[in-house]
Amino acid sequence: MKINVSNIKKAVKYLNNNECVGIPTETVYGLAANAYSDKATKRIFKLKGRPVDNPLIVHYFNIKDLERDCETNTLFYKLYNSLCPGPITFILKLKNKSKISKNVTNNKKTLGVRFPNHRVARILLKSLKYPLAAPSANISKGISPVTKDDVYDEFGEKIKFILEGGRSKVGVESTIISLVKKPHILRLGGLDISILNKKLKINLKTKLHAKSNINSPGRGRIHYSPGIPIRLNAVKIKKDEAFILIKKKKENNKNYFYLSKTNNLMESAKNLYKTLRKIKKLGYKKIAVQRIPNQNFGLVVNDRLFRASRK
Ligand code: TXA
Ligand code: MG
Repeated sequence: MKINVSNIKKAVKYLNNNECVGIPTETVYGLAANAYSDKATKRIFKLKGRPVDNPLIVHYFNIKDLERDCETNTLFYKLYNSLCPGPITFILKLKNKSKISKNVTNNKKTLGVRFPNHRVARILLKSLKYPLAAPSANISKGISPVTKDDVYDEFGEKIKFILEGGRSKVGVESTIISLVKKPHILRLGGLDISILNKKLKINLKTKLHAKSNINSPGRGRIHYSPGIPIRLNAVKIKKDEAFILIKKKKENNKNYFYLSKTNNLMESAKNLYKTLRKIKKLGYKKIAVQRIPNQNFGLVVNDRLFRASRK
């Protein structure tokens, strides 16, 4: 993708002015603002309708910048060196002298940090004198955006600028690992847990449903919701349902929507939000989903669909 320098300069100008800007990352688009500014970060919560006790992830250009705000440890360095920039968020201890706005953490002593692997995002981060707080650029509880147009769909003219960066390659949010005490996963996402298990020579749990997520406040009951009922593990569709599939069916049907035609779970994760958004736009009132194997990226797809399906 060709880099549009004047667009990046525009984004810098808005951000320096405490405005929120839509930014591309490899996972999903973010709603970014100066993480050191109370005024800018407050705007993120207001625009998203996000509860103030749900902390934001902060995006850094590199480890040197991060060391000003967070305590690091050997495990962190190990993972940073082999996986960053990439679709992983680390929960670390905040330094006492950190400049991160209290709004970001809701006064807590830990911070979620990430180094996005997207050229536009990296050039932007390098051009700034502060890191960027950025939750996914959707109204609270909704579907994360994977293109500039999706972000516009969510906020319209309410945000001043959205930086173009093509379609997000990963298509689901970052994997979150807490390194504050014993390492554990808080959210399944774009980085396969088996890679982490190999690096750390441990066995991180992937069963995160329901109650086990209390430490990540954003793991609320309903999330990633297209706003219409979703029926999981469906074999056949009922009248008027949109059917989400991961494996090609012999017959054609206008109500079929493929995440993948070859049972490819990584491709399915990438296409999930795009497909949910499309189905909603087409005006369907109900969704049925074919059974998706609970392994690798299938775990992520099932996690999101499970939350999206709750009433
Ligand atoms: O891929 C991503 O991570 C995207 C892109 C834009 O970077 N961001 C994203 O942010 O998904 P958000 O705000 O939609 O989800 C962040 C999740 C929330 O569930 C929040 O509760 C959790 O991370 N979180 C943030 N800081 C935390 C902390 N200090 N401790 C525990 N959970 C935290
Ligand atoms: Mg989100």
